[in-house]
Amino acid sequence: MKISALQKERAKYQPKLPNSLTGTVQLVNGEKTESVADQGDIAKLFPNTYGMPLITFEKGNGKQSSAAVNVGVILSGGQAPGGHNVISGIFDGIKKINSNSKLYGFLGGPGGLVDHKYVELTSDIIDEYRNTGGFDIIGSGRTKLEEEWQFDKGLEIAKKLDLKALVVIGGDDSNTNACVLAEYYAAKDAGVQVIGCPKTIDGDLKNEMIETSFGFDTATKVYSELIGNIQRDSNSAKKYWHFIKLMGRSASHIGLECALKTQPNITLISEEVAEKKQTLNEIVDYMAGIVAQRAANGDNFGVALIPEGLIEFIPEMKVLISELNDLLAEGFESEKIFRELEKEQRNSWVAEKLSSTSSKVFKSLPSGIATQLTLDRDPHGNVQVSLIETEKLLGEMVKTKLQKMKNNGEFKGKFGTQYHFFGYEGRCAAPSNFDADYCYSLGFTASVLIAEGKTGYMSSVRNLTAPAEQWIAGGVPITMMMNMERRHGHVKPVIQKALVDLEGAPFKYFASKRDEWAMNTCFVYPGPIQYFGPTEVCDQTTETIKKENC
Ligand code: FBP
Repeated sequence: MKISALQKERAKYQPKLPNSLTGTVQLVNGEKTESVADQGDIAKLFPNTYGMPLITFEKGNGKQSSAAVNVGVILSGGQAPGGHNVISGIFDGIKKINSNSKLYGFLGGPGGLVDHKYVELTSDIIDEYRNTGGFDIIGSGRTKLEEEWQFDKGLEIAKKLDLKALVVIGGDDSNTNACVLAEYYAAKDAGVQVIGCPKTIDGDLKNEMIETSFGFDTATKVYSELIGNIQRDSNSAKKYWHFIKLMGRSASHIGLECALKTQPNITLISEEVAEKKQTLNEIVDYMAGIVAQRAANGDNFGVALIPEGLIEFIPEMKVLISELNDLLAEGFESEKIFRELEKEQRNSWVAEKLSSTSSKVFKSLPSGIATQLTLDRDPHGNVQVSLIETEKLLGEMVKTKLQKMKNNGEFKGKFGTQYHFFGYEGRCAAPSNFDADYCYSLGFTASVLIAEGKTGYMSSVRNLTAPAEQWIAGGVPITMMMNMERRHGHVKPVIQKALVDLEGAPFKYFASKRDEWAMNTCFVYPGPIQYFGPTEVCDQTTETIKKENC
């Protein structure tokens, strides 16, 4: 395989570990835990893995050696920078326990466990992937491990490979399923432990004990570099408004972090839109107001950040989407009629079938977007919100609003738009120093949890604003993060998704600055991720973590 000069140099980087993991390790049990809510229900559903104590690892003294362990690893869901370092951390960790230990990677995500598709990860393979982005070492997938037959198929292969443990590297849903798997194997006394690792660029798998999910740091640095470049172009040409949609299926952490780094003129935060019960028109009025005021100052340019999940947080759009999901559900008579209609008739037919409020909203949408809402559906029949071009929807609606304002003499400027969507650009970037170290530490910690015979824990590395040597490694019982929620019509135990906290320091700081950033051009240009050089340039973590911890 041909590799780039950067990759070659980067391969030599030795990720840092917390001091507590560098020699012999001593396990310290903390307080017994409770789930964040619905304690009675969760305790009943997880009799073997509920209430376990928090674990911290401290530097031990004396000799530590153990029997060889075989471990299986799974990458689950969307790519996030640093996954390869989690795997190399597990590999080095289990080899340190005993050089005869073996690591197996299940191919293509959780489906690889069920279908018994795997590869042994030898040192040659691992060395090729150290400090690289992507999940291509074994691939990832979105198969959900939820059914007992899948767990049993997993157990078959675990027995065949003599696996002591499985490590599931995934987001909130995958870690929820890892916990269910841990409980199932514990109840059967199957002798297979399950450990989770917090992954997602979206940053919505976090809580008191998990300060951030891995990949968020690198992805937001990549997006912020691109936003900064666009801001500079916008400030140079002074003729375009750039509407930039940023990935993040539900939460707006990515948008908020990028705003803190780059100080654009407008940033929408979905959680605030929901809290204030804003309508689409109110959002458009807010944006058009800023465009008009800047134009009055002679600035016919700017940058607006829009979170990917926005649409579902606008109450009236949420109702509209759910009505459309029902109306156009596959197999229903109404869906058949819809399909048989001429394309030009479809939108007006849909508008007639909706409730009067939803019909009004539907009719107010640009026709291309209205059509997208009726067409793009996932395998469950739901609108694929991530495919809706929210940035264009808002751009077109702002344009219409500004035209009205122009007619009334309230807007005298120009409004030219450029649209962007940043998501895949950041998911497989070479991990920043922070993510390289954090991921390696998470993987290494997972290996120690395995050696200690733990199951149903998530690998945890905290104190992340301190130098890596002072990070605190340990384990958090996954049941501690759970509550009961209604999902797809059933009440289930799930890890609580962490949305942007409107009372938290990162949002409050942003809210105190946004009016100034809107009117004045306060752009910051972060530039590309640096891997070599002064620590203030290379080793800084996110503004979100810094503000949350100060
Ligand atoms: P995970 O939650 O699995 O980490 O994935 C997050 C994400 O990157 C979202 O931000 C985005 O909406 C989604 O994946 C896109 O995934 P896909 O390319 O599979 O549609």
